[in-house]
Amino acid sequence: MGNFPHLFSPIKIGGLAIPNRISLPPMHLNYSENGFVTDRYIEFYRVRARGGAGLIIIGGCAIDTVGGNPLMIKLDDDKYIPELKRLTAAIRSEGARSAAQLYHSGRYNFSAVIGGLQPIAPSPVSSKMFGGETPREMTREDIENVKQAFVRAALRAREAGFDAVEIHGSAGYLLCQFLSPVTNLRKDEYGGRLENRVRFPREVVEVIRQGLGPDYPVIIRITGADLVPGGLTNQDMQKVCKVYEQAGANAIDITGGWHESRVPQITMNVPRGAFVYLARGIKEKLNIPVIASNRINNPELAESLILRGEVDMVNMGRPLIADPDLPRKAKSGQARKIRPCVACNQGCLDMVFEVAPVTCLVNHRAGKELEFPESLPKAGSSRKILVIGGGAAGMEAAAIAAERGHEVVIWEKRNRLGGQLELCAAPPGRQEFNHLLPYYQDRLKKAKVKIELNREGTISEVKSLSPEVVIVATGSSPVTPPFSGAEKKNVYLAHQILRGEVWPPGRVVIIGGGATGCETAHFLASADTINAEVLRFLFVHQAESNEELYQLATRAQRPITVLEMLPRMGQDLGRSMRWTVLDDLRRAGVELKTGTRVKEITDSGVIAEKDGTEEVFTADSVIIAAGVRPNGQIYQELEASGGFELYRIGDARSPRKLIDAITEGFETGMKI
Ligand SMILES: Cc1cc2nc3c(=O)[nH]c(=O)nc-3n(C[C@H](O)[C@H](O)[C@H](O)COP(=O)(O)O)c2cc1C
Repeated sequence: MGNFPHLFSPIKIGGLAIPNRISLPPMHLNYSENGFVTDRYIEFYRVRARGGAGLIIIGGCAIDTVGGNPLMIKLDDDKYIPELKRLTAAIRSEGARSAAQLYHSGRYNFSAVIGGLQPIAPSPVSSKMFGGETPREMTREDIENVKQAFVRAALRAREAGFDAVEIHGSAGYLLCQFLSPVTNLRKDEYGGRLENRVRFPREVVEVIRQGLGPDYPVIIRITGADLVPGGLTNQDMQKVCKVYEQAGANAIDITGGWHESRVPQITMNVPRGAFVYLARGIKEKLNIPVIASNRINNPELAESLILRGEVDMVNMGRPLIADPDLPRKAKSGQARKIRPCVACNQGCLDMVFEVAPVTCLVNHRAGKELEFPESLPKAGSSRKILVIGGGAAGMEAAAIAAERGHEVVIWEKRNRLGGQLELCAAPPGRQEFNHLLPYYQDRLKKAKVKIELNREGTISEVKSLSPEVVIVATGSSPVTPPFSGAEKKNVYLAHQILRGEVWPPGRVVIIGGGATGCETAHFLASADTINAEVLRFLFVHQAESNEELYQLATRAQRPITVLEMLPRMGQDLGRSMRWTVLDDLRRAGVELKTGTRVKEITDSGVIAEKDGTEEVFTADSVIIAAGVRPNGQIYQELEASGGFELYRIGDARSPRKLIDAITEGFETGMKI
């Protein structure tokens, strides 16, 4: 029997034969131009088809103007078909099947991006998350128009060579808005009871089925449960899916909840496979395949879900951004070589929010497949390269340079590689970062990089090694602002705490509410809570009331205050993660004070000022999380001495996010 035999067994959606059970779900990538797919876009998907995904779903693709936005791929005009044909041909030539996701945002849109048009929705219910604009209630004519736009888009998708279409009926978009009693307040036959609220989505499935004929595969993407107050439950969605099946859907693609849900959907703290239970609930009621989604990160989990018959296919979105060859590696017994998606969202979802092209923390080639071919160009001649500092930036630079044929040595002053990765992985819900160090260690070993630990390196040592190139990746060190009292015994650095070197007693005040301050507060607060295993044990045995268990699982047992001088907490946390961290802190009872400037640290706490008024925060322990500064000395000495090709990367150049450090490592490794 081969590796992961169930995952790599074929399946049919309608009459469409798909070579395996791995689907690459639709992901907005910001690579299209004026609605057209680009060469960059085509190469991104061609590489993933060649990597072995069975089904590739493209999109979302706008079906009309009022439901789309200018950054999306479009299917509202025939002019887009020729380029899309190139895309589908590329995917097919690599042995995968393709589908186009048909998208209408409804109230999740802004007039500013649709030429001043007012977004439309079943009822004029605004969404706070999407700018709070009140949509216009759809008339009967709008309803007919949107249905026809769906059909026309589906026909174009078929003409463009897609093997299937997927209707976007999840995440809180237009179809969800009709289904939910929270957003559908209509008094006509499209509102009221569930049988009426499902009418519009059902009609969309029906008209698409009629338009495409009985044999063309139609998938519908749904929320397994809305996960918003007053929204649809998994039991409701089981009924809805039965309706979709009867209306002609050939498969159901099941995600978690709405964008507005306060239950995190795809951040790192979402446990792997967390929403599979929703897909399982629906599969039990249907006779068509179901596809499970969200945080199905590795072939082992995927195989077990298919083996147990919980679901029929799995979506792997970000894991295939991180490693397009995941399926091929898994199938050929090289699963250990898979580049792990850590669900950080730094290169993907956060980029979507910033209207920038999607890339990836662990895969700098993502979206740049044309620029950087699969096998890296070998260096003209092998050079002797010294990398000073074995953090993420240094390891990436060393690995790339060595993979390209250079002779590379890393000097790391501590007794282990990884630099700040261990700080990143320390707070609760960040353990995925722990997968990065073993991944780099494997790469460095394979590329024969020499690693010298406990070696800081002086200028004379560098000279006696006589490298041709020196890459300084010495990272950064925490800053202690010149507060009076900063030298006191009750003062700690956030880094010391996250590294597990010290444990601050009693009541805590943290100075600095950026990412490090917030994560340190989270780290300390969660140390007081019961862990998942204990929670499950107490819950199963009903040892405590649900309310008590909630408190035990969430509340810090001591007062923790975070002081931030800026108006926003967690300013430098990525957009997709920031709200989840702040929610966790609030649940823990952590006091968050913005606009608060520290004046002095005393033996009994911190004196600060907000709006000109002095405030005293009592504390047994004061923790400083006031930023970092580059470790720049060796660079300056090397620069002054000359004689080497010299680079400075990562935090040593300027402290930023992990993705910036790794990107610089990659680019420098490629440059040499
Ligand atoms: C950058 C990005 C863009 C996405 N865009 C879409 C989209 O346009 N339509 C959609 O249905 N889901 C979209 N999603 C959700 C993915 O399809 C998928 O459900 C999600 O990433 C969870 O799967 P994963 O953990 O395997 O990445 C997007 C996700 C990401 C990360």
